[in-house]
Amino acid sequence: MPGDRKSIEGGRRADLTSASSTAVDTSTSGFMKNVTWQLEVCNACRYCEGYCAVFPALERRRSCSPGDIQYLANLCFDCRACFYACMYAPPHEFGVNIPQAFARVRRESYEQYSMPAAARRLFGRQGRAATVTMIGAGLFFLAGVALTGDIRRLLGLQLGEGAFYRVVPYALMFLPALIFSLAALGALVSGVVRFVGRTHGRPRDFVSLSALREAAEDTFALRYLRGGGAGGCTYPEEKVSLARAVFHQMVMYGFLEALLSTIIAFIQQDILGWLPPYPLLSWPVVLGTIGGVAMIVGSAGLITLKVRSDRAPADQRAIEMDYVFLVLILLVNASGLLLLALRETALMGVLLIVHLATVFGLFFSIAYGKFAHFLYRYAALVQNRIELSRANSDGR
Ligand code: HEM
Ligand code: SF4
Ligand code: SF4
Repeated sequence: MPGDRKSIEGGRRADLTSASSTAVDTSTSGFMKNVTWQLEVCNACRYCEGYCAVFPALERRRSCSPGDIQYLANLCFDCRACFYACMYAPPHEFGVNIPQAFARVRRESYEQYSMPAAARRLFGRQGRAATVTMIGAGLFFLAGVALTGDIRRLLGLQLGEGAFYRVVPYALMFLPALIFSLAALGALVSGVVRFVGRTHGRPRDFVSLSALREAAEDTFALRYLRGGGAGGCTYPEEKVSLARAVFHQMVMYGFLEALLSTIIAFIQQDILGWLPPYPLLSWPVVLGTIGGVAMIVGSAGLITLKVRSDRAPADQRAIEMDYVFLVLILLVNASGLLLLALRETALMGVLLIVHLATVFGLFFSIAYGKFAHFLYRYAALVQNRIELSRANSDGR
């Protein structure tokens, strides 16, 4: 837990005031200098060391390279406890604002490491790029349906085994989705490998089974969104609350259930030869429905919290990226559940195209949007576990 604030103010303030406060420079190099300086202040102060993994990781370093700062930023869970506790936060002349600085560093790290380089411009245009992807995918499927048969099938009633594929042929639905999702995942993985190379060093030193497992436990428990034992994080405002962690887990576990549902459907269809639509009480439909409802409730809850959230410790462009991701999750799941509810009506064909288009929007955010955070954050958690085990074995 944090140390006694009064003794730190009395004991260390004199040291800190000798550091020169860098005027806020919004250029990337000026910004990184300012973040480095803020972290020097933190390393001298150490008041927040009990809140999360970031401050102990900072204390393990004498100085911070740009790679170290990117690592620490991806290790920060944006719980904001250090902002509300900080005696050097604005309006203090030092202007220490770690959650805001780290939100920008995280956003810029997704952009800097994304592949190919030409796609980096998409980061400044999240909303437009996701919309264009969805419209493009919708038009692609409409054209595909028209070219492979009769477009009037879209408005006809299709029932029984293989009903979806009588509207959009299987190859037309499956191949573009496979290619687009693998390309997005490949772009994300290659970016994260470069991130690890920059923040950690040789990727082979990164492979530690115990660190991989412990980092997975940190993820599934969302350990650092709990405010260092305070019973929640200071989000959307200064009052401690578990709301963000609970809604996040609904989205994350809902997503994992939907993924499991897709894998089971794939096995049923491509190995066992049972074509969809599947009965309401089958594994793919039950898991997909529970996951879909959880994601809708979770993302709607996160949007509501974000609307109310304190802007002082936030980065405006990161907020925009979050909104685009949250709306994409809502659209995919709302259109999926509507398709399930109306699959035995004449609206099925149109809803199928709308749902497929939104899924492509979500694929886009794997490589060029907020979805990327899951792999960057996991990599940072693994590195943290590796450092902790080294520190333990060195007796530090
Ligand atoms: C390694 C796995 C993951 C970790 C450690 C993680 C952690 C976090 C953290 C700390 C935040 C809050 C800070 C921020 O906005 O960046 C966040 C935001 C978010 N995460 Fe995750 N996440 C993971 C995986 C996922 C997955 C698989 C999904 C869903 C598909 C997801 C959905 C979201 C959403 C929607 C937000 C935005 C929340 C908001 O705007 O308040 N996360 N994640
Ligand atoms: S955020 Fe503020 S209170 Fe916390 S360690 Fe840094 S300078 Fe100290
Ligand atoms: S915002 Fe929370 S997780 Fe991030 S550095 Fe501050 S205390 Fe740690």
